[in-house]
Amino acid sequence: LRVGPKCGVCFGGRLVNGTTIHCAALRAAIRIATQRISRFSVNRPLHSHSPVYPPRSIMSEQSAKAGDPLASKSTAWSGRFDEPVADFVLRYTASVGFDRRLAFADIDGSLAHAAMLHECDIIGAIDLADIERGLRQIREEIERDQFEWRVELEDVHVNIGRRLIELVGDAGKRLHTGRSRNDQIATDTRLWLRGEIDHIVGWIDGLQHALVELAERHAATVMPGFTHMQVAQPVTFGHHLLAYAEMFERDRARLFDARKRVNSLPLGSAALAGTTYPINRGLVAQKLGFESIAENSLDAVSDRDFAIEFCAAAALVMTHISRLAEELVTWLSPRYAFIRLPDRYTTGSSIMPQKRNPDVPELARGKTGRVTGHLVALLTLMKGQPLAYNKDNQEDKEPLFDTVDTVVDTLRAFSEMLPGVEVDAEAMHRAAEEGYSTATDLADYLVKKGVAFRDAHEAVA
Ligand code: ARG
Repeated sequence: LRVGPKCGVCFGGRLVNGTTIHCAALRAAIRIATQRISRFSVNRPLHSHSPVYPPRSIMSEQSAKAGDPLASKSTAWSGRFDEPVADFVLRYTASVGFDRRLAFADIDGSLAHAAMLHECDIIGAIDLADIERGLRQIREEIERDQFEWRVELEDVHVNIGRRLIELVGDAGKRLHTGRSRNDQIATDTRLWLRGEIDHIVGWIDGLQHALVELAERHAATVMPGFTHMQVAQPVTFGHHLLAYAEMFERDRARLFDARKRVNSLPLGSAALAGTTYPINRGLVAQKLGFESIAENSLDAVSDRDFAIEFCAAAALVMTHISRLAEELVTWLSPRYAFIRLPDRYTTGSSIMPQKRNPDVPELARGKTGRVTGHLVALLTLMKGQPLAYNKDNQEDKEPLFDTVDTVVDTLRAFSEMLPGVEVDAEAMHRAAEEGYSTATDLADYLVKKGVAFRDAHEAVA
């Protein structure tokens, strides 16, 4: 700092890096910089009133089990970290916390792969028998919740693979011949999703059934039909409900169509470039019920558009349910009072005793947002990925799983709730009479009596 020319205010300006800064400005700059440092300093005090909850790693079920690196964490670690850095990275990259959901698909895939390896003379009969015995035991351990999932073994494949080696030794090591986790995860996810699609289609059938039954009961129940939310022309409640049955029919067809592309075998692609072993992919496809074989190994290990396509179809299912939910909420409001929902599908308010809130339809409408979000998440996950497999793909699981769970639960809630919908036919009828809803019919009547439609329209208006 060099003293610069006199300042008219404080008579003591400063020259900093060739620029004159007046002392007042300099003081302000120093004050701001100091504040900034203290605001972002790692030493800044914690808010003393926030409760400190246990760190996530302590609450996760995995850390309770033996063999977890977190369990053996040295107490010498600074109180600022709840685990050593390497363990944190391990947990960050591991997927076993959620992909263990694919365990049975993984076992089925391994059984088919092992049988094929034997039929192609790549492994012996004894090895195959050992592998089958080991996998059978693992399946039982998982079913009985006795399987020890270890986060340090990263994912469902390594967990099962390592246990198999523990149980049957060298045969277990031979199972991975001509295979990689990259084609294995693609196979597992497809096998699992295929089953879930069938499950979802079953629930769509249930919902359609409920809609048709309710529609039949109200085939002659007059209600106002709306355009622009204004009473337009009378329709029947049955007619209205069947509009939704049509939407779900298209959803059903979309899911079936997507299923064809889900049901294609990636196994045999290995890491990305195929394998030099004389494997027989047709045999594996046949054993696992795949209707086609992925032709290009680079595509097969990296493609997730089967999952994206499913999520798009699922987002449409939710969108349709959400429209219906919106109508139920409207009809239930005392302004309309067209319907009543069974008590178990409404809740009271904790403060307003008179309230009957349509929580289930409202939640379904809300959950539509998260399913649409999962679709966008998967599209975004994919858009920047070069060929072939990238670890990014591990992030497809949770959105996919949550999409399936949300759609299944919501379809179930609606197919169980709809049969209990009670209709106030009189209220609907009264509303249908509002707003000159038969004006079009009157105009049509005049046309049939020989008046030109434009003139009839004018006369009625
Ligand atoms: N957990 C991985 C996933 O979900 C499995 C494949 C891992 N492959 C690999 N080369 N790291 O995608």
